[in-house]
Amino acid sequence: MPHLLITGGAGFIGSNFVRYWCDRHPEDHVVVLDALTYAGNRANIADLYEQGKLTFVQGNICDRPLIDRLLREHEIDTVAHFAAESHVDRSILGPEAFIQTNVVGTFTLLEAFRSHYANQQRGRFLHVSTDEVYGSLSPEDPPFSETTAYAPNSPYSASKAGSDHLVRSYFHTYGLPTLITNCSNNYGPYHFPEKLIPLMCINILLGKALPVYGDGQNVRDWLYVEDHCNALDTVISKGKPGQTYNIGGNNEVKNLDLVHLLCQLMDEMAPQLPQRPSQELITFVRDRPGHDRRYAIDATKIKTELGWQPSVTVEEGLRRTVDWYLSHEQWWTPLLSQDYREYYDQVYGATPNS
Ligand code: NAD
Ligand code: DAU
Repeated sequence: MPHLLITGGAGFIGSNFVRYWCDRHPEDHVVVLDALTYAGNRANIADLYEQGKLTFVQGNICDRPLIDRLLREHEIDTVAHFAAESHVDRSILGPEAFIQTNVVGTFTLLEAFRSHYANQQRGRFLHVSTDEVYGSLSPEDPPFSETTAYAPNSPYSASKAGSDHLVRSYFHTYGLPTLITNCSNNYGPYHFPEKLIPLMCINILLGKALPVYGDGQNVRDWLYVEDHCNALDTVISKGKPGQTYNIGGNNEVKNLDLVHLLCQLMDEMAPQLPQRPSQELITFVRDRPGHDRRYAIDATKIKTELGWQPSVTVEEGLRRTVDWYLSHEQWWTPLLSQDYREYYDQVYGATPNS
């Protein structure tokens, strides 16, 4: 019976992974460690905790004595490491927390796991990373593969690149059974409102401006979060230690086209809207500094070696996501706090109707 430590399990992807895991592997022992920063939310997994399906620990991945204790007391054999500062715009406003959590926190986990592994000689360490470490593509470039050179452009992606290198080095130097995944943009339930898709859904529902950066022609490769969870399960069970696997949705979409799609879906699915058609809310705003133009993933390796491929089309995934935000107002309303409004004003300034 595997014993899992899931870091960052009350954030967006982490909480979806916890749900996925408890559903597919109900016999496993699951411990969730999360500091509950602004992005972490106990409510994301509260039902599972109340049903006794997991142990939740509020704590920091930089806290070595805590990690040592959790690994030992729960006899952890599998670490699934999601905890991170994850938002590019926040890394531009204040990079320090990104270095602390993403680099120092990952290092702390690796050191603790190294000492734990020396005693038990079994286990896996899955490091969940991003396609942003590869930098930016032009329209003609081939998608990122596992051999694409790292070229991170934001403090966020640079900190994730640093953590990837540390994880890689612990395989080569100490023989730790590490696995790295680099995934494209996720979307789905429990996505914090600062990111593009939830921000647009919520602003449409509130009749607020829809801020599109620059010319809106930047491209992202969208993956429904449940498909990502399934890919991670596949990598944990079948992946080869020391290897990296790219995970993507084969869904390249320009930002402006995506926002139009969300407006159409909201116009169709929402019973009431302050502004219809909602696309009239689209507002072009100042571009993100160093904004990467295009991300795209070549997911051939995980498909041919491990047999994984995405199953949810972007049309279906967006429909499910819009439906979720429509029916979970009680989840997202408390997140639009004073802190969130201050962050919003810092990034967007005084946009009309903001
Ligand atoms: P998120 O910001 O929604 O969640 C991060 C979680 O980590 C939060 O619950 C937060 O409280 C927790 N956390 C932050 N600092 C911590 C610390 N020091 N100690 C313990 N917990 C801490 O992020 P997400 O979008 O769910 O991303 C999860 C992981 O997946 C990250 O490593 C991110 O780099 C990676 N990733 C995200 C995407 C995406 O599209 N969102 C794509 C590829 C990879
Ligand atoms: O590619 C994987 C990455 O995807 C993850 O590693 C990150 O953790 C995750 O946040 C995400 O990064 P992005 O910067 O691509 O996601 P975001 O939702 O912030 O922005 C998506 C695109 O939309 C990007 O080109 C910027 C643009 N954008 C974003 C916001 C928030 C806007 O035009 N307007 C906005 O208000």
